Amino acid sequence: MQLINNNPIGFFDSGIGGISVLKVVRKLLPYENYIYFSDFANIPYGNKTSGYVDRRCEFITEYLIRRKAKVIVIACNTATANSIDKLRKKYNIKFIGVEPAIKPAAKITASKKIAIMATGLTTSSFRISKLVKMQNKNLKFIIIPCVSLVEEIEKKPTGNSKLTKKIRAYLDPAIKEGVDTIVLGCTHYSFVKDLITYEYNSKIKVVDANEAIALELKRDLT
Ligand code: DGL
Repeated sequence: MQLINNNPIGFFDSGIGGISVLKVVRKLLPYENYIYFSDFANIPYGNKTSGYVDRRCEFITEYLIRRKAKVIVIACNTATANSIDKLRKKYNIKFIGVEPAIKPAAKITASKKIAIMATGLTTSSFRISKLVKMQNKNLKFIIIPCVSLVEEIEKKPTGNSKLTKKIRAYLDPAIKEGVDTIVLGCTHYSFVKDLITYEYNSKIKVVDANEAIALELKRDLT
């Protein structure tokens, strides 16, 4: 594989969520160098104002540029939905963002009912409503703001009974309505992908965007 240069690929997220993306990317691009910026001091982004998240994204971008990142992966749905357009206008570096895998979900649903789990700031973003509007009108989308799920996953990414209870409280009503496909619209939620599948007896499909981002990055670098 021909690499542009040996400079690192910069990653950032409010916490550990982006590591779920980095894990998939490293499998595909094992010879690259990486810097991962985790903004623990400011987690969760999903409950902050839009301006606050913009300022954090700018701060981290400038840090990663100083560390000679050749591309920046915004491994956070909230930061992508809220800030990527503004960052692209302001900085002369390539940004790759994460977007909920709504299109792949639309292709695999049999019941034509899809739930999208995401943070408060993501669910209220223009990008999400635009993505949903672009889909087939026969599909029904239930958008679920999962406030405080990120903090719980940070505490115990492998899951515990409190986390399971929270997830069921968010998802049970959607499953009762006939949802058969769940979109994980936050990179933290990839850590509980297996837990969700297990809770609903593998009857539902759970999709994230990690594979798609890794492929996009690989395309850009080769
Ligand atoms: N991993 C982030 C995301 O994908 C979490 C945002 C937060 O800190 O609330 O949205």
